[in-house]
Amino acid sequence: MDKQQAEGKINELKQQLEDYGYHYYVLDQPKVPDAEYDRLLQDLVQLEEQFPELASEDSPTMRIGGAPASAFKKVAHRVPMMSLSNAFSADDLRSFDRRVRQAVGDDVSYVCELKFDGLAVSLTYENGLLVRGATRGDGTTGEEITGNLRTVPSIPLRLKKPVSIEVRGEAYMPKQSFEKLNEVREEAGEEKFANPRNAAAGSLRQLDPKIAAKRNLAMFAYSIGELSGKTLTTHYQGLSFLDELGFKVSKEATTCQTIDEVISFTEKWVENRHELPYEIDGIVIKVNSLEQHEALGFTAKSPRWATAFKFPAEEVVTTLHDIELNVGRTGVVTPTAILEPVVVAGTTVKRASLHNEDLIREKDVKLGDTVIVKKAGDIIPEIVGVLTEKRTGDEIDFHMPTECPECSSQLDRIEGEVALRCLNPKCPAQIREGLIHFVSRNAMNIDGLGEKVISQLFSHELIADVADLYTLNRDELLQLERMGEKSVDNLLDALQTSKENSLERLLFGLGIRFVGAKAAKTLAIEFDTMDKLRQASANELINVNEIGEKMADSIASYFEKPEVDELLGKLKKANVNMHYTGVKPTENDVKVNSPFSGKTIVLTGKLHHWNRKEAQEKIEALGGTVTGSVSKKTDLVIAGEDAGSKQKKAESLGIDIWTEEQFVQTMEDLD
Ligand code: IVH
Repeated sequence: MDKQQAEGKINELKQQLEDYGYHYYVLDQPKVPDAEYDRLLQDLVQLEEQFPELASEDSPTMRIGGAPASAFKKVAHRVPMMSLSNAFSADDLRSFDRRVRQAVGDDVSYVCELKFDGLAVSLTYENGLLVRGATRGDGTTGEEITGNLRTVPSIPLRLKKPVSIEVRGEAYMPKQSFEKLNEVREEAGEEKFANPRNAAAGSLRQLDPKIAAKRNLAMFAYSIGELSGKTLTTHYQGLSFLDELGFKVSKEATTCQTIDEVISFTEKWVENRHELPYEIDGIVIKVNSLEQHEALGFTAKSPRWATAFKFPAEEVVTTLHDIELNVGRTGVVTPTAILEPVVVAGTTVKRASLHNEDLIREKDVKLGDTVIVKKAGDIIPEIVGVLTEKRTGDEIDFHMPTECPECSSQLDRIEGEVALRCLNPKCPAQIREGLIHFVSRNAMNIDGLGEKVISQLFSHELIADVADLYTLNRDELLQLERMGEKSVDNLLDALQTSKENSLERLLFGLGIRFVGAKAAKTLAIEFDTMDKLRQASANELINVNEIGEKMADSIASYFEKPEVDELLGKLKKANVNMHYTGVKPTENDVKVNSPFSGKTIVLTGKLHHWNRKEAQEKIEALGGTVTGSVSKKTDLVIAGEDAGSKQKKAESLGIDIWTEEQFVQTMEDLD
């Protein structure tokens, strides 16, 4: 191949690779398999090695990482990269809106954007070619990291139009890449990154671009610093223009006509932020009209036309005063941290889970310590670490007891479990917790019997087991604190009504180990009556779909206990129903045409179209059952992105595997 032919081929490969890269990294719609991209890239590498004079700065081979730098050069930002004022509440947002209206009048609209948690960068393009990339630095001067930024696949090396522009955006590391990177670092004995933001910043601060190239970074473009030859009138137009130029622009950016709409937008993302594949730490609100930007101007640090709504902190620091021990209904003793009350993710937290003694040791938690408390999504708060540097020497070591804090019987550590367990079936804490479980919503659903009433009934020795609830009389109930005539009547009615419950509620309420509400329903449908279930052997139980060995053994041994026999006798005498009275699913109940009816399905990997819960609900509505692990009983596995061991297991068992697209397509075809 001569030089001229090589030049033609190089140009063709460059265009093809950039187009494939754009579809993959910016649009999330790959055009060709990864292997095809790699093959073409290798061809280009070879040609550029053969004809080094034909290598260029907009070549996709730059994505692999060019020559290392000896130091980063300083660059002055022609337009300063300012920061944003903060808003922490709806009231703060209303004040911001008021200030804006006072300055520019009532004809205002806003653009709400996600506040990506990464590293602000500036990209300068001359006639469409990326010539410089820099960090924000102190806002006036940053560091030139062009070589590193060229490796970020969603940053265009050449724009789709030959414009000269300075673009700003946030370079970030997707959550999944962050987790993988940390796994690899841990295995290699290297220090892990604390969060995706640090990982992104650390990667872009490497002098060798080959390192950044391996870090799977991305960038969302969110504003224009300077632009020549084109006039825009709104910020939203600016975002659309960035999209046209080939940048990755978030699809979530939304125009809002009122501050109420802005507030709803922030509320939506406080709820949904964890569903995103990258981290955000707030919402940026920007006045849409660029003319109004001019009129509003800047304070010393930030524009008056924008503000950042910061999400409530999800990790805060507080003091651990004490560790309380609770005995659950299965006898497991759990330590709970008693904290100096503190607001985490918008709610006051006074207690946090410490799970078990191993965790207390692992985290080196002592009484009196300054601890970091975390609450993510709807998870119970937990202690993630201790600030050991804050220790005064007065902190006290904590040891789990050897005896049950409620009944003083010896605690046992069951083999293979970290939990300590009280094995005394007469332990008052276990009985009380069992009673609370029995009346709870998914079990017998007895209104008016909360934790407090149960505790009183129990401590007054009016009840000793769940059957005793049905022998309570008016006079006994009237003795209790805060129980008037009306509440007593309501409670007696609720108890009476609960006797009619279908079998699955009673089964779940009995608190047989490993039998959840769903399994209870399966058992009730399968066996119809308590008597038939009691006669079933562990082997017969295993043959029931969804019932595993552990659960089957637990059920069989539960019914062998003499005290269970006695309890069921008492319940029977009280006329508590022991039949399944629900409708049995028949062929007609589930959509006959549904490919999921009667099937046991496992969802694995990351799903993009629906989240797990939504996907599960859809399958269940169509008569399928979703379970957590793959076994011989599984009919179908739906494998999302990065499906790991479950997919492998399904392959080895010859179980049908669908991609997420197949699943979504099937659902859409059914609609
Ligand atoms: S606009 C004049 N939009 O938040 C300020 N910033 O303090 C222009 N950030 O570090 C910034 N997402 O990198 C803007 N959608 C977004 C953003 C965003 C994240 C970061 C930005 C800067 C900080 C602002």
